[in-house]
Amino acid sequence: MRFKIIHTNDLHSHFEAFARAATVIKKEKNEHTLLLDGGDFADFKSIELQGTRGIAAIELLTEAGYDALTVGNNEMFNGVDTLEHMAEDGRIPFISANLFRKDRTSINGLLSSTIIEKQGIRFFITGTSPDMGVFCDGLGIHMTDFKQAIQEELEKNKGLYDVGILLNHVGTFADVELIGELDGIDVILSAHDHQLFSEVKVQQGIIWNSAGNYGEHVGVIEIEVTEAGVSLIDSKMIETKDFEGDERTLSILQRNKEKAVDILSQPLYSLNEPLWHDVIEENPISNLIADGLKDMLGAELGLINSGIVNAGAFGFISRKKLIETCPSPLNPTYFEIQGEHLLKALEDSLDAQVCMADGRGPGFRGRFVGRLHVSGAAIIHDGKKILHMTIGNEPIEAEKWYRVASSDYLQRGSGYPSLAHNKNDRYMAEEIKDVIEIYAKKSEFVKRAVRKRWVEKSRIKV
Ligand SMILES: [Fe+2]
Repeated sequence: MRFKIIHTNDLHSHFEAFARAATVIKKEKNEHTLLLDGGDFADFKSIELQGTRGIAAIELLTEAGYDALTVGNNEMFNGVDTLEHMAEDGRIPFISANLFRKDRTSINGLLSSTIIEKQGIRFFITGTSPDMGVFCDGLGIHMTDFKQAIQEELEKNKGLYDVGILLNHVGTFADVELIGELDGIDVILSAHDHQLFSEVKVQQGIIWNSAGNYGEHVGVIEIEVTEAGVSLIDSKMIETKDFEGDERTLSILQRNKEKAVDILSQPLYSLNEPLWHDVIEENPISNLIADGLKDMLGAELGLINSGIVNAGAFGFISRKKLIETCPSPLNPTYFEIQGEHLLKALEDSLDAQVCMADGRGPGFRGRFVGRLHVSGAAIIHDGKKILHMTIGNEPIEAEKWYRVASSDYLQRGSGYPSLAHNKNDRYMAEEIKDVIEIYAKKSEFVKRAVRKRWVEKSRIKV
């Protein structure tokens, strides 16, 4: 019997493009098709997802008729509870064989594999998610070895299916190693590294494909399933850009956007003081973040660049305001660093050119790097050089290691390269915008935020 496997991966919430992909999918789809997504469909930069805890993505996938998806890193980035909320919805099977809660218990709704029967043919689908390493703890997850997890699923389901599909989100570089090692897999659909295969590869009898990213392509693989096994008949990689967006998909998107904006716009609380912002000048919203981070992580020093926020906060706080003013999904991050590297970064920060530089870096969605703001420290400078600095009440020492609460952006040395000389980094699942939400409602923190930590000593002219 002939079957078509239609697949996408790494959409990253490019929903307009997805509406075009949905048109292609609906054209290709019939009772002899299986429709799969390889993960990173839901990227939480999207306001529709933020406002619906990911359910907008499920509605879009349901409308297109998806049979299953594998959990990518982006489905985890809003924390394990949001992932569970989506997986529990139940309309689309969420698959990952190597993903658990931090306490090693399973995530409700998440399947290690599934068998879907169509026209009497049993399709076994398993897949794994990429190891998030040091981020696992903060996201509330535990990950096991993906190869072993797949082998165990194959072992458990031996003889129970006709077509074995590995819908994997660990990258083609990892999947290529699996070819030849897996007994019981007929098709591998790769994701995570956004590879676009111009045509399906067949290696050691395994049919292998990857459909790029952002809804720009839809992969279609035609197979023949017989007693003897699975063989490739035909394949195509369809570019979506010239198709009209599917009407029903677009209307689901519109409805969810309105719903999300309504939910996110609700005022959470009003602000006692305006928290203004600037890229170069020391400002209270950046000080508040530095203070909040220091408190949250119990560090000696709070450190943040003002470019993390695009604007100040006045009047009231809402989730929408937080997403707009602080769009970067960066996390509160702890690390240890020596005084000399801190001093170098802080002194660089006196240079407006450094502050106004393009802030690009992983996870950064703002414009400028911005000035460094501190908590738990006092700095006296002359506009160019730091003359004196204390952390706690002690003068900073070049060789001494300090415990710093900051962001993963600065931990990587983005904007301020000397900060990359750190050790013992760890991350929290919250985002920097959550730090604003938590601390801007505490009046003592708002009051403290207006207090200056950088003091310029006027130079005496003779
Ligand atoms: Fe990914």
